[in-house]
Amino acid sequence: MTHPMLQIHLNSHPTLVSHLVYGCMRIGGTREPTPIDDAQRRVAYGAIEAALEAGYTCFDHADFYRRHKSELVFGDFLREHPGVRERIFIQSKCGMRGDFFDASAEHLRNSVEGSLRRMGIERLDMLLLHRPDALIEPEEVAQAVDELVRAGKLLHFGVSNHTVPQMELLRRTLDHPIVANQLEFSLAQPALVMEGLEANLVQSGPTALATGILDYCRLHDIRVQAWSPFGGGKLLEEGHPARERIRSMAATWGVPEEAVVTAWILRHPAGIQPVVGSCTPERIHAAARGCDIALTRAQWYELLTAAIGRRLP
Ligand SMILES: NC(=O)c1ccc[n+]([C@@H]2O[C@H](COP(=O)([O-])OP(=O)(O)OC[C@H]3O[C@@H](n4cnc5c(N)ncnc54)[C@H](OP(=O)(O)O)[C@@H]3O)[C@@H](O)[C@H]2O)c1
Repeated sequence: MTHPMLQIHLNSHPTLVSHLVYGCMRIGGTREPTPIDDAQRRVAYGAIEAALEAGYTCFDHADFYRRHKSELVFGDFLREHPGVRERIFIQSKCGMRGDFFDASAEHLRNSVEGSLRRMGIERLDMLLLHRPDALIEPEEVAQAVDELVRAGKLLHFGVSNHTVPQMELLRRTLDHPIVANQLEFSLAQPALVMEGLEANLVQSGPTALATGILDYCRLHDIRVQAWSPFGGGKLLEEGHPARERIRSMAATWGVPEEAVVTAWILRHPAGIQPVVGSCTPERIHAAARGCDIALTRAQWYELLTAAIGRRLP
């Protein structure tokens, strides 16, 4: 059964994607250079099937996840399930090369070719530049993206973990819009909203990100995707300061705790897409139920203040 998950536009672009993204970083086994075994394949297939059943139509990859095995096992799944590729949006990332970052045109081209080959698909629906490269030459990025789009190998371009000036620099030469920025954001890491809430407080120190990134993305039609929406699992562990509040809200409404966690991200008017990374089918379904909850302003702030452990100014 397909959950009626909300579909959203990639901002002003006609492309529709599910409000929640399924993140494929943890499928495909270990990071060791060993083949995918049967048990690892079962876990991966179970997670992809659960995501499809729950209504996720947007799948997030990176060229190097699990030493390419995430894309490989996903490609195997697509080959064994004809018809799936046509109804989903597949994004991947490039630019992280072990000990260094690489936004060169050559790497962009090679990375996309590799992702297409491993997944057995003809086009990536979106390529994200995984992390800022200090040696970036924006003209090279622009040229490579344009070539890939013209060749029909790429539909959209975006970035991940990029600051406002880094996006500005790219936008100056790109012929194609930046349609997404994937950033860490959750009740376990709420810096994206905290930097604005506490901007002029004496005690607020500089955050890792340049200020205004979330508003900048809203202003420029750049969809924010939230990686690690469960803080990599930490958020629902005993002892996390927001855990009790999440638990009591979930109990009151009769929903799983995971739904409260994603509902908090989904409530933000920027239309942020949580990128859910669990490989457990029940959790993948539970996270999707966040679409059914509309938190009030008061509830949203209540969760935030519980998570940061202090009152707002
Ligand atoms: N752009 C970037 O730089 C970047 C960085 C990191 C990740 N990502 C993307 O974001 C996706 C999500 O990252 P993530 O996996 O760290 O995110 P996450 O959804 O916050 O964490 C998932 C992890 O938490 C565990 N977990 C424990 N209890 C859980 C619960 N009750 N509900 C949900 N998960 C629970 C899961 O274990 P089980 O699998 O056992 O359920 C899994 O190991 C990745 O797949 C990747 O696509 C992007």
